[in-house]
Amino acid sequence: MDATQKSSSKTAKPRRTRRTGRRDPLAITVLKKDHREVEGWFEEYEQLESDSDKLALFSKIALALKVHTTIEEEIFYPEERGEVEDDMLDEAYVEHDGAKKLIAEIEAMKPSDDFYDAKVKVLGEYIKHHVREEEQPGGIFAQAKRGDEDLDAMGERLRARKEELMAQMDGAKLA
Ligand SMILES: [Fe+2]
Ligand SMILES: [Fe+2]
Repeated sequence: MDATQKSSSKTAKPRRTRRTGRRDPLAITVLKKDHREVEGWFEEYEQLESDSDKLALFSKIALALKVHTTIEEEIFYPEERGEVEDDMLDEAYVEHDGAKKLIAEIEAMKPSDDFYDAKVKVLGEYIKHHVREEEQPGGIFAQAKRGDEDLDAMGERLRARKEELMAQMDGAKLA
């Protein structure tokens, strides 16, 4: 019986970090899930041919990034002040601002315009760099996990705010 339990718990995959084998708290799980989703969409974008598909996927990417940066800026970053090095948090805000400017530029363009694809590609690279700063060993998430904040409770708030913003920002786009 014990042996069976052991082997079945080996195959089941609870939330774990690759490096420590420890489960990520909910806030980190929620944020990492957003990162993976948007990374997948940037890859998908590279395969697209038609302007309408590009426009549709880019608006999904833009909405996801706006919502994600907002929940980080409203909840995660400010609550991690004091737990995470100031310089790292300051740089993260600046990187968010850079991404938002590039998103706004792309939104003002049409997929048929020169440099549209190039700007989407550069945005993807920029986001990849930023995500690395958050997820790398010793990075923002690692420092947050070592801190005293209740990251499971924060995860619930991040999720709720995300849902609210998705509805608001998606609605605003249609209006
Ligand atoms: Fe993030
Ligand atoms: Fe971020």
